[in-house]
Amino acid sequence: MKIFSGIQPTGKMHIGNYLGAIKQWVEFQQTDDCMFCVVDLHALTIPQNPNALRKAVAEKVIELLSVGVDPAKSILFVQSHVKEHTELAWMLSTLTSMGELERMTQYKEKARKNKANQNAGLLTYPVLMAADILLYQTEGVPVGKDQGQHLEITRDIAKRFNARFGKTFVEPKTLFPKAGAKVLSLKDPKKKMSKSDDPESYIALFDEPEAIRKKIMSAVTDTGKEIRYNPERKPGISNLLLIYSLMNGKSIAELERQFKTKGYAALKKSLAEILIETLEPFRRKQKELQSRELYIQEILKQGAKKASSLAEITMKEVRKRMGLLGNE
Ligand code: TYM
Repeated sequence: MKIFSGIQPTGKMHIGNYLGAIKQWVEFQQTDDCMFCVVDLHALTIPQNPNALRKAVAEKVIELLSVGVDPAKSILFVQSHVKEHTELAWMLSTLTSMGELERMTQYKEKARKNKANQNAGLLTYPVLMAADILLYQTEGVPVGKDQGQHLEITRDIAKRFNARFGKTFVEPKTLFPKAGAKVLSLKDPKKKMSKSDDPESYIALFDEPEAIRKKIMSAVTDTGKEIRYNPERKPGISNLLLIYSLMNGKSIAELERQFKTKGYAALKKSLAEILIETLEPFRRKQKELQSRELYIQEILKQGAKKASSLAEITMKEVRKRMGLLGNE
């Protein structure tokens, strides 16, 4: 299957990103045709410091390599290095209605949070995302729950284009993980874990052991003492059990049994050690890659080259179908 997925360069990569998306990326690349993209153009919809953004893109690439994205198996590249993303986004925007963009939950949230900067890019964000995906004839998109609506609009746009101009795009499937599609905040387990929230609310993949211990020990739990998985009534403990289970492979039922009589503190202590242990190889790899700037540049150069040649095939077709006069 042709797989495409993306991640924003800004903010720290956290266990929500990992368990909801990146862990699947690493699994898919063993068997499928994968492309992974650092979406720097999407990041511009929030005001960025140019130097900080440049640095964040390079750091995100290192983070992805550190957790197992393998450039020998997947195409890893930066969105702005392949100009066809913006070209296709423009074309698709002419097939997208204002109303459907205004209904997007993430747009509404971001517009509310960024009252001083309600730029048009915030609204057209999903069109650029549809372009990212459709450009490569993608069949499957591994993402967390929060991206589900953006995948729906991507399919709608593809359908509309195909109906109007003839079959050009594949309608991609959304690939949620079996569990972990929505990892919750440690401080407010009613909300998703988010990198734009307070760092105490998430475990970053490259957090130092002391920070991990501190954050897990102070994670918000529920009233009572019972260790039971019940996302409705006990969202805090259920979230910790889910993270524990996904990080070390034990089933939730097994964990409930193991900690039944031991209480919240014992569960938290044990979870912190599991996280420290499983994330340690990522931290080690990250430190090693931080000094290999030329190697990273070469990966991105190769990635952009491979992605561009695939993108060009689709764009030639799209330009022709939409009636643009070619000049080859
Ligand atoms: P981004 O950068 O916010 O997140 C990257 C991936 O992590 C998932 N994720 C989560 N999964 C579970 N629990 C959470 N708490 C959690 N938080 C984040 C996201 O669902 C995502 O899969 N718009 C996208 C980036 C993008 C993209 C694309 C993705 C741009 N173009 C094309 C797929 C295909 C975004 O902002 O992801």
